[in-house]
Amino acid sequence: MSFAFQQCLHPDCRSTFDVGQILTSCPTCGSLLDVNYDWNAIPVPARLADFEKRWSNRLNPVDYSGVWRFRELLRFATDEQIVTIGEGQTILQRNDLLARQCRMQPGTLFLQYEGQNPSGSFKDNGMTAASTHARMVGATMTACASTGNTSASLAIYAGVTGLFRCIVFIGSGKIAFGKLSQALDYGAKTIQIRGDFDDALARVRQLCEKHPIYLCNSVNPFRLEGQKTIMYRVLEGLGWQVPDWIVVPGGNLGNSSAFGKAFLELKMLGLIDRIPRLAIINAQGAATLDDFWNEQGLRWNEGRPDHDVMTARFHRMDQQNERASTLASAIEINRPVNLVKALRALQACDGIVRRVTDQEIIDCRARIAATGFGCEPASGATVAGVLRLREEGVISASDRVVCILTGHQLKDPDLTMAYHSGDAVLMGKKLTPAGVTQTPFANPPIVVDNSEAAIVSALGLN
Ligand code: F0G
Repeated sequence: MSFAFQQCLHPDCRSTFDVGQILTSCPTCGSLLDVNYDWNAIPVPARLADFEKRWSNRLNPVDYSGVWRFRELLRFATDEQIVTIGEGQTILQRNDLLARQCRMQPGTLFLQYEGQNPSGSFKDNGMTAASTHARMVGATMTACASTGNTSASLAIYAGVTGLFRCIVFIGSGKIAFGKLSQALDYGAKTIQIRGDFDDALARVRQLCEKHPIYLCNSVNPFRLEGQKTIMYRVLEGLGWQVPDWIVVPGGNLGNSSAFGKAFLELKMLGLIDRIPRLAIINAQGAATLDDFWNEQGLRWNEGRPDHDVMTARFHRMDQQNERASTLASAIEINRPVNLVKALRALQACDGIVRRVTDQEIIDCRARIAATGFGCEPASGATVAGVLRLREEGVISASDRVVCILTGHQLKDPDLTMAYHSGDAVLMGKKLTPAGVTQTPFANPPIVVDNSEAAIVSALGLN
């Protein structure tokens, strides 16, 4: 017997579908789908702390997984069906050095370091869930469009488990080499289309509708169930206390949507007594959500957001061929597919949205890395957001804030090197076009002759 079902998000539809169906939108009305549960039938532990002890059970992969040790909160599969490769062994890290830079009190700023996942990004939290569902429905071919991390993640699950093959679609020229090299290495069939991520996603959706290919982008509701667990681990890292703020970069808005759903469910189940506030940070050059939320006043509106506002904006983008453009290539997305779910999350979490410049993003990425937590540019948007919100007085010095570091530093070494070396060629190619003029946190290598005297002099030891 299944405890779960798929359900249309739209309040006038609410159609339900079996978990055995492969769907990425409601067949009745076209809205996004959730995975929902018959909570009365699931033996959810009485306290969140009860999940914790499973982690020590390292010989059972399902208990050891940072996703599946919370499995009663995403009970769409049986233990036997679960596909896990040890994802979610990520830790909440207190960071007083950054707290000081953000003029916050010690013990208030935390980094949830998702770069520690097997493929180096938070995507593995979702891909373990999507892979599990793919196995449940007997899929043999899977696909995704990606700015890089989703493809690396899908490719690693296909490679390690051998359960299915995968095709990944990427846009031209934008993908960070660390990510592309992963997809190629893990054996994904990689299609680079002449277009950007938004184009690639539209194409792969079209392909999966017409052919027996299982789609693993975040329109897949099962994937987002896995991403809820990032929030469970944040709570775990805080001794099951709820922080004041979760700060997350916004791209396709899968994470934001999953986090909102996680907190709504925990509150409904009586496992937490309050919901943290959510701050979604867009890059300036890919700020569709910020535009909708702050300029156009688009809101969840009980599941009836103003579709005319959305249609008009997307129509204008088409007319003017408006393309996303940011050095944070992971979030270079203009048409976030989970927009409506993210509006629900913002409503549930009393959320806010900000946009930060590429200069702020890459400076903050370097500042985070200088405290020992290497992350990719998109993750830098979180601390850039915190600095902004501190300036605005929205986040106070004593608020407990958790920044989600979504991807590992080694995903995008080119940009890191461009920043630190100030290399004219790299700078010209990577930094200048986006309006980045300075690298104040650069730590360039010092080039010296191969002589003791030169080294001693360079080190200031003479
Ligand atoms: N940070 C990183 C490192 C990402 O790779 C992504 C998304 C995001 C943030 C944004 O997350 O879409 O949930 O809002 N990367 C996708 C990809 C789109 O294809 O790898 P989101």
